[in-house]
Amino acid sequence: MRLILFGPPGVGKGTQAQILSQKLNIPHISTGDMLREAVKNQTELGLKAKSYMDRGELVPDDVMIGIIKEVLSSEKCKNGFILDGFPRTLPQAKALDEIFEELKIKLDYVISLEVNDEEIIKRLTNRRVCRNCGAVYNLLIDKIPEDNKCPRCGGELYQRNDDNPDIIKNRLKVYRESTQIVLDYYAKKGILKSINGIGEINTIAQKIFESIGIKE
Ligand code: AP5
Ligand code: ZN
Repeated sequence: MRLILFGPPGVGKGTQAQILSQKLNIPHISTGDMLREAVKNQTELGLKAKSYMDRGELVPDDVMIGIIKEVLSSEKCKNGFILDGFPRTLPQAKALDEIFEELKIKLDYVISLEVNDEEIIKRLTNRRVCRNCGAVYNLLIDKIPEDNKCPRCGGELYQRNDDNPDIIKNRLKVYRESTQIVLDYYAKKGILKSINGIGEINTIAQKIFESIGIKE
């Protein structure tokens, strides 16, 4: 299956993509994670992307399209994938169509998660990420040990640079200005599934499974 998880920052795309990835046994391709890895390793891409990410702006389309083309053409994506964080602009969505055509593959569904801004700000300011294993937590729903170590691997938990209130507001603005329009593009293709993203993580996962015809 080939899926896109779509929605504003902090809506729960990464959280749900992980669950779907395990259930369907297909890779979770997160452009945000790929960029953060590049920043950490100070690669050419990382050096270029960092200033955009720290401001909550989008990395230029040509850079992102190049990255996604490479990963979707790779062996690990040959049996399907879940895209999280791409496409984020109309040119990215159109370029993705061309990549699918070249690879002779078809997109099955675009799952759009919907959550109000107030809840998004609450979720993102309380998000913590493990520096070692990448696990994502939330201070409001997960029990975090007092020593601030990852319950799974003991790694250090940190707060993303772009998870501060001012940058979150800019990310939401950028979403409205450049990304939301992509929803219409997929609605017209008839493959858009909209899901209310408020509620327990597992309940939302169930709703996603049902919407794309996957049985428990
Ligand atoms: P990216 O990493 O993609 O950030 P994002 O879209 O802002 O999304 P997030 O990772 O913040 O949120 P999420 O929806 O995955 O939520 P999560 O599951 O973690 O991109 C970062 C930057 O990279 C961009 O700003 C841009 O600069 C650049 N970039 C990336 N892709 C690009 C592209 N294609 N083009 C150009 N630039 C690009 O959940 C959030 C929190 O809520 C967590 O703490 C979680 O535990 C909690 N939570 C999850 N579900 C629930 C629930 N149901 N109830 C309560 N809490 C919940
Ligand atoms: Zn960890």
